[in-house]
Amino acid sequence: MKLELPRYTERFGSVKIHDIQRVLLLDSSEDSPPHSTSVCNIPRSRIEEIERRMAIVIPVKNEKLKVLEGVISAIPSECLIIIVSNSRRNKVDRFRMEYEMVEQYVYYTKRAVWMIHQKDAGVGSAVRKIGYEDLLDEKGLVHDGKAEGMILGMLLAKASGKDYVGFIDADNYIPGAVHEYVKIYSAAFCLAQSPYVMVRISWAYKPKILEGSLYFSKWGRVSKITNKYLNKLITSFTGFETEVVKTGNSGEHAMTMKLAELLDYSSRFAIETGEIINILEQFGGVLDPKFYEPMEKGVEIFQIETRNPHFHEEKGDEHIREMLFDSLLTIVSSPLCPDSLRSEIFEKYPDMAKSRSSASRRVIRSFINVDVKSFLDGLISSNSIIMLGRST
Ligand code: GDP
Ligand code: CO
Repeated sequence: MKLELPRYTERFGSVKIHDIQRVLLLDSSEDSPPHSTSVCNIPRSRIEEIERRMAIVIPVKNEKLKVLEGVISAIPSECLIIIVSNSRRNKVDRFRMEYEMVEQYVYYTKRAVWMIHQKDAGVGSAVRKIGYEDLLDEKGLVHDGKAEGMILGMLLAKASGKDYVGFIDADNYIPGAVHEYVKIYSAAFCLAQSPYVMVRISWAYKPKILEGSLYFSKWGRVSKITNKYLNKLITSFTGFETEVVKTGNSGEHAMTMKLAELLDYSSRFAIETGEIINILEQFGGVLDPKFYEPMEKGVEIFQIETRNPHFHEEKGDEHIREMLFDSLLTIVSSPLCPDSLRSEIFEKYPDMAKSRSSASRRVIRSFINVDVKSFLDGLISSNSIIMLGRST
């Protein structure tokens, strides 16, 4: 893959946020001329090395089976796939349908796939046994929410021994785009200079149908607002206006396990915005750090723009509102958020404090001290995990 080198980097304490880099060439070999002053070449052999050490977590909730199958088929064969489903099980057991589809798919492809259901009683009790109560509700089951699903996926990725974890939404209509996202994750990990790295996807376009024809919009409705406030928060410390954050809500992102295990996470749809905020809180040098190594080695955030457009399921205005409120609440709840910005956001969105997002906002503490091997053993002994295909 050939990528533009980042032209601009914003520094916030030990955190480096690189501005958008575009993909110049999707696939390239060793022989392609190497670095020029503004371009880097990451040959496919190096990308494959990373793929062998990466798990891809797919959170799923009632998505179309055909779309999910397309997503799975696009993930490079060396990656372990971890599907965490919160799909309906009453009336029609959608999880069973997902499982049967995946099983048939693995029969033909022989690749490694792990699957769990977020609300399985065995998953709840394995979480309780390792003492990770932050994930549990009063009935001892894992809370609903995309973040909660992603965190279960990260625990499994760590238990499998992988060094990298990436996320891909299950509602993506273009397998080619999914394939590109995973290649980008690996390429960025090759570029990084620190072991504490996050890669976030910025899509070239998000096409919509407008008056009967395709309209290629650049920014999602929620991202536009989240990015604006994240940038204002950074500006409030540096004193210089910035537009560096362009991926505040990017569901498609990946991390080194060394970074993933240190972060505290925001629940539900706030997780992606919350990750940026938590990185700034922990490693930005304003608040006292809990971990010193990343302060020394630095934390890098890459934002990479795809060639493929992003086509996913449109879920309506209520969903958009929920996502926006989840994200904004994470910003206003941060100790880094200046009072003036907090008031500005509350004035603009007076309904936010009364929303469902506000009632169910939780923080899920980092899993660095969680015994992930016992978690996996717990799932295996209660038959709560399906492990298909070759061993990882
Ligand atoms: P958007 O793309 O950011 O608007 O959000 P989506 O509604 O598409 O959700 C992103 C991904 O998370 C999709 O693959 C959903 O199926 C999945 N998802 C949503 N809620 C949950 C949940 O409670 N648990 C799990 N495991 N996945 C979820
Ligand atoms: Co979606």
